[in-house]
Amino acid sequence: MVALASSASLAGGGDQVFHLTAHGSQTTGVSRLSSIPRGHCMQCHPTRQTPTPGTPTLFTANDNGLCFTCHVSAGTSQVYAGQTAFVSASHATATTMRWPGPVPAARPAGDSGKCVNCHTPHGARDGQGLVPNLEFFREEALCLACHDGSGPASTNIAAEVTKVRAHPVTTIAGVHRTNEGTVSASFGTASRHAECSDCHNPHAARAGAVLSGTTRVQVTNGAAGTVPAYTALPASNTTAVKEYELCFKCHSSWTTRPAGQTDLAMVFNPANESFHPVEGPGRNVTSTMSNSLDGGTGLPHLSTNSVITCADCHNNDAMPRNVSLVSTYTGAVPSGPHGSTVTTPSSGALLRAPYRATLKPRSTTNDFTLEEFSLCFICHASGPFRTTSSGTRIDTSFRYHGMHLNSINTKGSGAGDINTPGAGMGNAICRECHFNTHGTRGAVVSGNQTYAKGVNFSPNIQGPGGVGQPQWTPGSCRLRCHGQNHSPENY
Ligand code: HEC
Ligand code: HEC
Ligand code: HEC
Ligand code: HEC
Ligand code: HEC
Ligand code: HEC
Ligand code: HEC
Ligand code: HEC
Ligand code: HEC
Repeated sequence: MVALASSASLAGGGDQVFHLTAHGSQTTGVSRLSSIPRGHCMQCHPTRQTPTPGTPTLFTANDNGLCFTCHVSAGTSQVYAGQTAFVSASHATATTMRWPGPVPAARPAGDSGKCVNCHTPHGARDGQGLVPNLEFFREEALCLACHDGSGPASTNIAAEVTKVRAHPVTTIAGVHRTNEGTVSASFGTASRHAECSDCHNPHAARAGAVLSGTTRVQVTNGAAGTVPAYTALPASNTTAVKEYELCFKCHSSWTTRPAGQTDLAMVFNPANESFHPVEGPGRNVTSTMSNSLDGGTGLPHLSTNSVITCADCHNNDAMPRNVSLVSTYTGAVPSGPHGSTVTTPSSGALLRAPYRATLKPRSTTNDFTLEEFSLCFICHASGPFRTTSSGTRIDTSFRYHGMHLNSINTKGSGAGDINTPGAGMGNAICRECHFNTHGTRGAVVSGNQTYAKGVNFSPNIQGPGGVGQPQWTPGSCRLRCHGQNHSPENY
């Protein structure tokens, strides 16, 4: 760990930190007694302190009541939402919540839930200078001191954010600002980052409401395919947090996203033709859809009325696959889109289970496995896909699903890359016909953006005869793929 300026050097008078902090400022710092200058030690200590750790003399007991003397209401950024909000947070109520040490020293049992487990009233300094917000350590280093598997927190988030695919918590430093939350430019282009405090408020998070008190972006949707109107909500907003509102802070057109990333607020608009039901229930209310949802590995089985979250697909790879809605999960695996080991040939988009994204080679044996698309089978029956029969079924409206996944392995000779126009090779993968998983308004083939049923083709699928765009209408496809012309093929 980084060396910190100690309180001992502080009390010795030569320290350069306290007077730089919000507490030590002579113009805006602590002021409880008008007889003593602002920002003076004696606003809190009635007598001069011995420059050694021990039992300091303070104007009141050394507990949160001391801090609440001046911090009963919200801080300037409203990230600290005041005494009432804090006392119901996990960090206030957990009897195990105390600094583990060794630097600064571990706190005794009676100190659980105190502000001083994360903050020092005197300020701290590390190799980069003053640590912001009177914290002991900056950014994730503070959180991971306790959430690293060695206690006191029960969840090891350190192991998550260092997985091969992860939010860039540990890889981008020095960009996060406490007061940035409602400013869209804070999250785009050169400012792009994701710290623990961008997604959690340590003064408000609690079991069952881990996103409580975060800044987020509410949407008011318009017509299909349009960008919604945005309202940025401050940390002090106490309405229930919808997870996607948090994600839209960085993954929607409210801010500037990296090239190629979809505007997810536009794609998930429930007025669209087809989408995974994140903002509201989906539009496919057929019995085949309900039968598909009735056969997933995850419980409870979903229905055509279900609403799911981003984290139901983007989560820890250790999240058990017999769980459909992760918000109902109470086991020991840390839930959240922190990190995942799932990577090529699967998509590496921080997924909780594999979802093959690279095309398959031609093969003399059928190389289909349930595992390579297991993300989808958490919620959808796998029956239609593992069969080689093209007979009609009650759990799919596309009876050729199994054929495409199992028995076209010797077809094609063209492009081996799903992003390259060409004939393709081997058995099909879901992504060739459902390229954008989120919704068809995110289709790369412009003519597919108004399609229903999740159908939107990948760049390697061509128009009929290799000309123009691939087309679908319910029951019929006009396209060329894996060397096969469909002009049309009906089902
Ligand atoms: C905002 C109130 C506040 C101000 C201002 C303040 N202190 Fe403290 N001080 C505390 C609290 C609270 C503790 C106990 C901290 C703990 O339990 O970790 C403390 C503890 C100490 C200790 C004991 C060692 C330690 O770190 O626990 C010393 C020494 C000390 N303060 C010196 C000073 C000096 C010198 C100044 C001015 C340069 C100062 N303090 C300003 C609140 C304050
Ligand atoms: C005597 C009044 C007083 C006491 C007691 C006090 N504070 Fe403060 N605190 C202030 C003032 C004034 C500021 C600066 C204005 C603001 O941010 O609200 C401040 C700011 C802060 C900040 C924001 C720092 C920043 O860089 O913006 C934190 C964090 C903080 N205090 C934590 C604590 C904790 C923890 C305690 C108890 C150990 C405590 N304070 C006790 C008056 C006090
Ligand atoms: C689990 C660690 C943790 C605990 C416990 C904690 N804080 Fe904080 N606090 C933080 C972090 C981290 C930040 C900076 C958040 C950010 O950058 O978004 C912060 C920021 C603040 C701020 C400045 C933000 C603002 O709204 O202006 C204040 C004031 C504050 N804390 C006061 C307190 C007080 C008072 C307590 C106890 C009643 C407390 N904190 C307990 C971690 C903690
Ligand atoms: C001093 C130790 C400590 C620090 C520092 C700390 N936490 Fe915690 N945190 C805990 C404990 C203990 C719990 C209670 C639940 C548990 O044991 O896992 C908790 C709970 C939480 C929860 C709610 C989950 C639940 O089930 O209660 C979230 C979210 C969280 N912490 C995030 C953070 C973030 C973000 C930071 C840094 C800003 C942070 N923590 C810093 C110890 C800590
Ligand atoms: C504070 C900003 C921020 C927030 C909030 C945020 N993300 Fe991210 N996310 C990022 C950054 C930065 C990356 C790295 C790639 C990039 O710049 O988009 C990323 C990457 C991802 C990726 C991987 C994308 C890929 O191409 O591999 C997924 C999936 C993702 N985030 C999902 C989510 C979900 C789900 C939420 C809401 C629970 C969320 N994010 C909230 C900033 C954020
Ligand atoms: C039904 C599962 C599912 C849900 C729900 C879902 N995603 Fe995804 N997401 C995926 C898959 C699969 C990929 C990668 C394959 C692809 O590109 O289609 C992906 C890719 C991404 C990417 C990188 C590519 C891109 O489109 O920009 C981001 C960022 C992302 N998701 C964020 C989110 C956010 C935020 C939410 C919620 C608002 C969400 N996802 C909901 C399955 C899902
Ligand atoms: C991109 C946003 C994002 C970032 C960054 C992020 N988290 Fe989370 N975290 C979430 C979401 C969303 C959940 C809740 C998932 C769910 O619905 O179960 C969560 C859940 C948690 C939980 C509760 C886990 C459980 O199973 O009880 C803890 C603790 C936690 N996060 C701590 C952290 C810490 C510490 C960091 C930084 C090292 C961090 N998070 C970074 C979004 C994020
Ligand atoms: C060759 C193209 C193609 C491939 C490959 C494909 N699908 Fe489909 N899928 C379709 C078509 C076309 C429909 C729409 C059927 C209708 O309603 O007319 C569909 C519909 C669906 C539906 C809606 C329910 C249903 O079955 O009617 C789900 C769920 C689905 N597909 C999942 C998948 C999964 C998971 C994969 C990969 C394991 C996959 N699909 C691969 C073409 C494909
Ligand atoms: C967490 C659960 C969940 C996961 C995981 C999931 N889906 Fe879905 N999916 C649903 C639900 C719920 C619906 C029903 C929406 C409706 O009724 O319109 C749905 C509908 C669909 C549809 C039909 C959309 C329409 O408008 O008719 C397709 C296609 C589809 N999913 C493909 C996939 C693929 C491919 C995967 C794997 C990448 C996947 N799903 C993973 C829950 C999930």
